[in-house]
Amino acid sequence: MLTERQIEFIRTIPKGENHIHIEGSIPARVALRLGKRNGVSLPFSSEEGMKAFVKKNVVDLNSFMKCDRLINSVCITEEDYFDVVYALAEDAKKQNIIYQELHLDYPLNEERGIAMDVVMKGYDQARKAALKDFGVEIVFIAGIDRTLPPTQCAAFIKNLEHYRDVVDGIGMDCEEKGYPCILHKESYEIADSLGLFKTAHAGEDDGSQNIWDAIDELGCQRIDHGVRAIEDPVLVKELVDRKILLAMCTRSNANACFLFPSLKEHSIRPLSEAGVICSISSDDPPYVGDLLWEYEGVIDEIGFDEDQMIKLARNSLEYSIRGQHHLPTFDAWVDDWKKRWN
Ligand code: ADE
Ligand code: ZN
Repeated sequence: MLTERQIEFIRTIPKGENHIHIEGSIPARVALRLGKRNGVSLPFSSEEGMKAFVKKNVVDLNSFMKCDRLINSVCITEEDYFDVVYALAEDAKKQNIIYQELHLDYPLNEERGIAMDVVMKGYDQARKAALKDFGVEIVFIAGIDRTLPPTQCAAFIKNLEHYRDVVDGIGMDCEEKGYPCILHKESYEIADSLGLFKTAHAGEDDGSQNIWDAIDELGCQRIDHGVRAIEDPVLVKELVDRKILLAMCTRSNANACFLFPSLKEHSIRPLSEAGVICSISSDDPPYVGDLLWEYEGVIDEIGFDEDQMIKLARNSLEYSIRGQHHLPTFDAWVDDWKKRWN
């Protein structure tokens, strides 16, 4: 049970979020509205129905991705893409998220024949509106669907040269087992030549070798999840020495993809205690809950104390792609908070 102080702490601390997928985060209310607007039928007709559908069908990362692709199929027009990111910004504001790095997994849309310009224009307009209407700064990370042919992925990354004012980084996600990072070396070389920040999902449901390949072969400056780094002490030391952020999502790992028997057994604690820089994010809120719920779990079930939580929150800005200018606001909030309670 959380104390009053902890509840207020979670609600009011200024937050960054480094790892959330637009296509996996379409709120039920928006998915239902867009499904109706576009004549796309969904296997549920209410928010509760979506929760029940997810509970029944999502048992691991692969089944999660199937569900993610299905719900994302409601998005077709520029207005749809706008509406999704605008709704996410609205939700971010309510959680006091001031800076958010959103993975835009365009290939999930490309597979349904949607032009890149339609998606990018909708997302970009919403990014601008989010700052103006909610004061939420959004930064986009373009995600490769690692299950697609490497040449197709490389073409996607090459096309980002036309969207350098929209996208700041590249990532790689979707099903991990059977699709090692190394397959997409060419995409990362192109990203490098475009001056993009580089991250990749690795060590989520596959082993630590994928993390080694991401940092050594692809030149990743960050790892998304990386929970299985804990199996490799040499890698843990390397992550510490190189100050590589693990953008973790504990509830997604434990409660959606079932990588741990329970949240308590998540590797964020031993990794943080070993000195690895971590931040926490929601990954895909409709499936696992929002960032406030993620904070609650790390405090209440994993047992992080207030100073450890402040460190996680600060890391989400300090090790972000370009959210460091929020640090003075963050530090001032921490000073005020401590004066008030200590
Ligand atoms: N896309 C959305 N969520 C993901 C996750 N947890 N792992 C890989 N790809 C994803
Ligand atoms: Zn993810």
